[in-house]
Amino acid sequence: MQIHVVKNYDEMSKKAASIIIKEIIVKPSLILGLATGSTPLGVYEKLIEAYETGLISFENIKTFNLDEYIGIPREHPQSYYSFMNEHLFKYVDIKKENINIPDNDINRLNEIAKEYNNRLFGNQRDIQILGIGANGHIGFNEPGSSLSNQTFIVELNEETRKDNARFFNSLEEVPKYAITMGIKNIMYSRKIILLASGKKKAEAIYKMAYGDIDTRVPASILQLHPDCIVIIDKEAASMLPTNETFIEF
Ligand code: GLP
Repeated sequence: MQIHVVKNYDEMSKKAASIIIKEIIVKPSLILGLATGSTPLGVYEKLIEAYETGLISFENIKTFNLDEYIGIPREHPQSYYSFMNEHLFKYVDIKKENINIPDNDINRLNEIAKEYNNRLFGNQRDIQILGIGANGHIGFNEPGSSLSNQTFIVELNEETRKDNARFFNSLEEVPKYAITMGIKNIMYSRKIILLASGKKKAEAIYKMAYGDIDTRVPASILQLHPDCIVIIDKEAASMLPTNETFIEF
């Protein structure tokens, strides 16, 4: 694991975007794993800029999203399907058929999970972008989920629902379930870029990098990934036991 500590959110976004842009230039048919939440928004802005200046194209890129809520339609403004469209897809030349986000039709959930899982194993991601929950979750792999899980249906825990309530009108509106890549799917990426910014993430970052590998902190499994780059701002790094700006394990 490599940890880069940068000044602020903008530097974090720039650094992550520049790694992704370089990889796209070398491999225009990159398979990219995408995350939602506030954290990767800056990266998506920078990727859109790179597209607009002609540096990269999404024409041959395939994307796979980590997760989707269950219980709200895909057209709901807070579905991850809408989120991706709103913050990235509608601005670039990606082909519809190359976008993969788990469907959330409640009548077919088991089939959808199986089918998404097969697609993931048939398409190893070149890069997987990750945020991290304040409780150490990645995707929607909540504390306690098995580290060998493949795509599955998860009941969201209260802390996660409260954290995500800021996007909804009330806590009651926040879905209680989601479909998510399992840890096993996330680990099946050539490179992982995990991003975090702000004090609220400091404890999760500390436990992810320095704690035991433990189902109580799902992100701790990333210690075992052969190419995991963590890019965080100073606040998210504030509990690390060193002031170095580059740490390698
Ligand atoms: C959600 C997503 C995660 C994301 C996390 C953190 O729960 N499922 O993929 O990493 O929130 O979100 P934020 O970046 O808004 O802090």
